[in-house]
Amino acid sequence: VTPPPSSGLSLGFDSISGSKTDAVSVPAGYTAQVLAPWGTPLNDQADEWKDDGSNTSEDQLNSTGMMHDGMHFFPLEGSSAEGLLCMNHEFIDQNRLHPAGATDTNGRRPAEEVRKEINAHGVSVVHIQLVDGVWDVVKNSKYNKRYTAATEMDLTGPVASSDWLITKYTDEKNNKALARGTNNNCGNGHTPWGTYLTCEENWPGYFTRTDDKSRWTEEQLRLGISANGTRYDWDTVSAVSENETGEFVRFDVTPRAGDATQDFRNEANGHGYIVEIDPYNPQARAVKRTALGRFRHEDCSFGKLVEGQPVVFYSGHDSQFEYLYKFVSKALWSAADANPEDRIATGAKYMDKGTLYVARFNEEGAGIWLPLVPDATTKDGARLGDVPGFTTQADIILNTPGAADLMGATPMDRPEWTAVDPKTGSVYVTLTNNSSRDNQDNNSETDTNVANPREGNKYGHIIRWNEGADPSQFTWEFFLFGSFASANTLVNLSGLNETNEFGSPDGLTFDDRGLLWIQTDGGVNENTNDQMLAIIPSELNSTENMLAVNSSNQDQLKRFFVGPNDCEVTGLAFTPDNQNFFLNVQHPGNWPAAGAIDATDSSGANRARSSTVVIMKDGGGEVGL
Ligand code: FEO
Ligand code: CA
Ligand code: CA
Ligand code: CA
Repeated sequence: VTPPPSSGLSLGFDSISGSKTDAVSVPAGYTAQVLAPWGTPLNDQADEWKDDGSNTSEDQLNSTGMMHDGMHFFPLEGSSAEGLLCMNHEFIDQNRLHPAGATDTNGRRPAEEVRKEINAHGVSVVHIQLVDGVWDVVKNSKYNKRYTAATEMDLTGPVASSDWLITKYTDEKNNKALARGTNNNCGNGHTPWGTYLTCEENWPGYFTRTDDKSRWTEEQLRLGISANGTRYDWDTVSAVSENETGEFVRFDVTPRAGDATQDFRNEANGHGYIVEIDPYNPQARAVKRTALGRFRHEDCSFGKLVEGQPVVFYSGHDSQFEYLYKFVSKALWSAADANPEDRIATGAKYMDKGTLYVARFNEEGAGIWLPLVPDATTKDGARLGDVPGFTTQADIILNTPGAADLMGATPMDRPEWTAVDPKTGSVYVTLTNNSSRDNQDNNSETDTNVANPREGNKYGHIIRWNEGADPSQFTWEFFLFGSFASANTLVNLSGLNETNEFGSPDGLTFDDRGLLWIQTDGGVNENTNDQMLAIIPSELNSTENMLAVNSSNQDQLKRFFVGPNDCEVTGLAFTPDNQNFFLNVQHPGNWPAAGAIDATDSSGANRARSSTVVIMKDGGGEVGL
């Protein structure tokens, strides 16, 4: 019999059934509201959203973006009824963004359409307020702000002091630590000092290089810059007025020696980072913190804070056979920094100097963190800084996964979100799936390994670990394996039943009470759409392979939310009193119902929109308990 969780918590709702409808489902006794769907005006410069796709790029610049993803709620003066919701807009759907999809004339995209697409990406800071039981946007608030795929941002840390960022544009601005825009912002994080972190995930596909791959840099090959044009053909826009600063040609990073106005070979080097935003200060510029590594960042979470100890950040690289990273600050945490006057300066203190590590899972229970610094010793016994291409810290950061390859990191089944237990400090990571994981044992990265034991890992799993007294050591165990309920015990390793079967865990967030929320992207079977479950973790017990769920404790893991058809469920935020939960429904097929605030209305959309959903208990009270 598994002992009850030491927290004394229990889930105060009945697990809901799986469902496949054009509506969201929540437990009895809860309501679910639609809040700030794509295209919601943030100020009077934007026309109201129109359901025929005819809003302009200027409207889009002043409205919430598309494809809501990671988010965080920043209270105003501690309030649980008013605050700033920061949310990511990961990508776009051109068919819904425009009246009749993307247009393309002889291989050229029109500038106005592309500007609208650029403005539908990035981050929204949205002032929201609860009035008479309904959450809504405070239009024209001074806090409302959009960051897009064109917003100028600063870079700090090792890459910022190198020459890797120099372009025609940085020359003109006389500042070589600039980048324009943030792309494919997936998961998120926040900091102990009150800033938002947005994470650049599948950004390499927004840049293309057209010459022969034999000329490419190692990092362009390793990170996967596109050889076949850009994701939305932004590089194809014909020269327009701002051509000399490369408004669109910058997405083509092919070196063009002899034509400086066209040479944006370094443009992509300003992408692939954790970006810090101060939501409380609309005048502050966003900052890309390069010390935390450059890869396809899924999210970023900080470790349990201890006065006088470093601040630690965790981030996964979401691709098949990629790695798990942590950053350990040089500065030691001081609680006096929890509410600083200058939040971006505090970010510089804790995020610009420190050591980036990558994880190696050595054996059941034991792992080590490998430092990514010039003086580290590679798996072949070389000094990392003596390997061509990895001389300086800037070089190492620029090709973070290449450095991690040399160090012998463990290739994982797509590390997605990380989450830190606020009580115990244990860290969790979702490994969403990996259809390419094989069991051929031919000593390649694709072989099953101690932390990724399932061939063709279709349903994913969750691992958790504790840091050791020595910061280079950790102890770990399997926490949960995704599966459908009727699978045999070789697949359904965690003993899931119909009330909590799930697959492809992705979003993962602890609330401050110690409930862990799991969101899915990919589903498990024909019984249900993507969903969110709550789990009360048992104590970490590294002496045995303890799975969190078995037939005796199904009540520890319950399904709380099911999304509408064709969506994924992602992003989670809470008010300080835990009475209001915000989650995002991304890429729904036929939702929300036209004009409806009730997210459980299944009557269908005129034009489907990603949207935030607010969940509250009828009559008030904490969500989940
Ligand atoms: Fe954008 Fe890894 O999900
Ligand atoms: Ca997604
Ligand atoms: Ca995700
Ligand atoms: Ca995913």
